[in-house]
Amino acid sequence: MDIIFYHPTFNVSDWSQGLQQRLPQVNLRQWQPGDNAPADYALVWNPPTEMLQGRDTLKGVFALGAGVDSILSRLKQYPDLLPAGVPLFRLEDTGMALQMQEYAVHTVLGWFRRFDDYRHQQQQALWQPLENYRREDFTIGLLGAGVLGGSVASSLAAWGFPVSCWSRSAKQIDGVTSYHGADQLAPFLASTQVLINLLPNTPQTVGMINRQLLQQLKPGAFVINLARGAHLIEDDLLAALDAGEIKAAALDVFAREPLSEDSPLWSHPRVTITPHNAAVTLPEEAMNYIAKSIAQREAGEMPPGRVDIARGY
Ligand code: NAP
Ligand code: GLV
Repeated sequence: MDIIFYHPTFNVSDWSQGLQQRLPQVNLRQWQPGDNAPADYALVWNPPTEMLQGRDTLKGVFALGAGVDSILSRLKQYPDLLPAGVPLFRLEDTGMALQMQEYAVHTVLGWFRRFDDYRHQQQQALWQPLENYRREDFTIGLLGAGVLGGSVASSLAAWGFPVSCWSRSAKQIDGVTSYHGADQLAPFLASTQVLINLLPNTPQTVGMINRQLLQQLKPGAFVINLARGAHLIEDDLLAALDAGEIKAAALDVFAREPLSEDSPLWSHPRVTITPHNAAVTLPEEAMNYIAKSIAQREAGEMPPGRVDIARGY
């Protein structure tokens, strides 16, 4: 079984050996420009446009991450970036949900216990106990309640916070109030003190965290963006922070990455920044998942994580 592989940073021999340990019949090779030799599967992250062109006999393309926007957003310009009829799969969880929980719980607890305010006071050698937030007021709203958003919602509900989520379809998650669809976005936002974004980047969600949306949150709201920089209008966030509408933001993803050195976000006293690593692909977990998926595909079954190309995620 031949697999072509393309990832800008992953070590191809680790993946070749790792997959072969799990599926001895696998022969994985790094795809190089001009390689048109047959293949059964492709494992990719941001693949070059010519890599999958005309490969109609592939049995599957596996994205080596959770989001597939870097592929789908180029389809309009390069329709043969993905061979028609070949299923595209993405990673579901594979250890990313726990990483997202860690990020969200750490950040929410820090704000809830006012550690950010105490850090600022410390810089002034100021000994000043502050009023605590009330847990029942510290409402958390997840934009997106899929594999990652749903898991983060549950983890925060377990800390006793009032948690709600907003998605396309209604959800049933223990301890979490579900809002869905365009009509229920406004009441969701109006009840949210801490907004956490875990939506996919699609034509429907791009740019949606703008000034108008931020102004619908509870006064002095907090924002955590863990999904894609394309969701957030950074200048609108800065204006909302400076106007006191938003108290603080934690950002893992940015419109342009790496974030440019002269971005005002770096030095904003109420913004914390991480370099798009809220949840990284863990190779061992990803290899287990992909090996199992390939075995299912070979057995004539449809593995999980199939992307609905028309829907965009
Ligand atoms: P997922 O399982 O596909 O969940 C997406 C959620 O968004 C679903 O609940 C979906 O609603 C909802 N949604 C999509 N379009 C919507 C719309 N127009 N209106 C309302 N809700 C909508 O995705 P996931 O695995 O949780 O991953 C989410 C995103 O996280 C990825 O796409 C990726 O961009 C990002 N990510 C970031 C990092 C990082 O390190 N920063 C790491 C991994 C992933 P339904 O449930 O009703 O379909
Ligand atoms: C990372 O951002 C991913 O989508 O896996």
